Amino acid sequence: MEVSRYRPGEDDEPVLQGYDVPLMPDWAVLDGLNYIKDRLDGSLSYRWSCRMGVCGSCGMTVNGEPRLTCGTFLTEYGDGPVRIEPLKGFPVIRDLVVDIDDFLAKLSSVRPWLVRDGEDLPLTTEYAQTPEQLEAYRQYSMCINCLLCYSACPVYVLDPDFLGPAAIALAQRYNLDSRDMDDRFDVLNLDDAVWGCTFVGECTRACPKHVDPAEAIQRYKLTAALRSVLPWSRR
Ligand code: SF4
Ligand code: FES
Repeated sequence: MEVSRYRPGEDDEPVLQGYDVPLMPDWAVLDGLNYIKDRLDGSLSYRWSCRMGVCGSCGMTVNGEPRLTCGTFLTEYGDGPVRIEPLKGFPVIRDLVVDIDDFLAKLSSVRPWLVRDGEDLPLTTEYAQTPEQLEAYRQYSMCINCLLCYSACPVYVLDPDFLGPAAIALAQRYNLDSRDMDDRFDVLNLDDAVWGCTFVGECTRACPKHVDPAEAIQRYKLTAALRSVLPWSRR
């Protein structure tokens, strides 16, 4: 495996370092990194947690593509070498660890909670939903915040202020929830939000959870356009 190393204070820029890793049929790229960390070089830094495609923390660039390293098998790359680099589009803190502060700020900027207006009901009040109402937003709720869609997005690479695919899909997760009363028009109807998307579709291709953020963005463009001509239209 060829692994990008960057040690702040020691390296001026990232360099690739080669490691001999056994090609085991059931090993994911993450197992290869763990082998390096456990047997060859304990100073290698990277993020991971669940090893089962749930936590979203193991995203890296594998042979040039954003991938979950726990869900990408070494055998996909034959005899190698497999090149592992940090996710593109994010500042590198060390080795394969990137700074996600900007991403987290974007997620919280879309008010990712149920907004209710003018109510004074007990906290125990239930808001029942039908299976159809759940289905309306369920796809967008599957996001694991892995950042692969941002790393794949050519707009985000050129314009770091672009709100980006996962944050817009998250906004739609709440907009389409029958219990929510907001439409997040003020944060979505902007040049740096839905109107910044050029519909390349790389975000949807990169997404390991089939969230389809490109569809979420195009759908909101329609909502925003309708709201411009019909101000009372909200969804
Ligand atoms: S939308 Fe998909 S690719 Fe983007 S952060 Fe969520 S799970 Fe990851
Ligand atoms: S380690 Fe959790 S998604 Fe890969």
